[in-house]
Amino acid sequence: MVRVLYANNYDHMSAMAANIIAAQMTLKPDSVLGLATGSTPIGTYKKLIEKNKAGEIDFAPIKTVNLDEYCGLDESNDQSYRYFMNDNLFNHVNIDKANTYVPNGKAEDFAKEGAEYDALVASLGGQDIQLLGLGLDGHIGFNEPCPEFIGPTHEVELDPSTIEANARFFASKDDVPTTAITMGIGTIMKAKKILLIASGKNKKEIFEKTFFGPVTPEVPASILQFHPDVVAIYTEG
Ligand code: F6R
Repeated sequence: MVRVLYANNYDHMSAMAANIIAAQMTLKPDSVLGLATGSTPIGTYKKLIEKNKAGEIDFAPIKTVNLDEYCGLDESNDQSYRYFMNDNLFNHVNIDKANTYVPNGKAEDFAKEGAEYDALVASLGGQDIQLLGLGLDGHIGFNEPCPEFIGPTHEVELDPSTIEANARFFASKDDVPTTAITMGIGTIMKAKKILLIASGKNKKEIFEKTFFGPVTPEVPASILQFHPDVVAIYTEG
């Protein structure tokens, strides 16, 4: 079941998302949080940091698993998703970094890394809640539109539109890695709850296609219509 909520603006969306994650952490202090990178969740992470500093939520018993990582990048590169997570959340809360997991972008064998990552997520008991952003082409994680849904964590070639969209974070478009390792659709769908956030007028059409259009691997996020517990929050602002 999908609950679609509309926020007044980006700040409101971030507060709603942070409240939902904080509620999860309150109800189950040792929750496994599935986390995302990108520009959309930055406000949510800021609110979680504020709540942690105010003593409202405790990250000490929390474990986290991230959706994806660029192939070839690691923590030492400030465009890596591991760096992003440290910089936007982990360095500012009382989490034990040993309990935070991001797929290894420097793995020698991505098929092996994918299988090991899925085994790791399963061994933690799966995500209690998985936070997702939404790509302009309907991707979640880096599951790009394709003829069929791919279940396990795997290596992907990024769509030209995704490379274009993410070029804003790099010195030039040529610096954007062309491949990534991402949780698969199956790994994401096994999360007990899903919280998708999307903001901006340019995401309106794909948000509507995702939740009100047909379920198709050409809009990978549309599979979420089949998940039993999804909250999707959209704001134009
Ligand atoms: C990030 C991720 C991606 C983003 C998506 C939207 O870990 O998996 O699916 O959520 O590309 O990115 P933003 O939020 O930058 O628009």
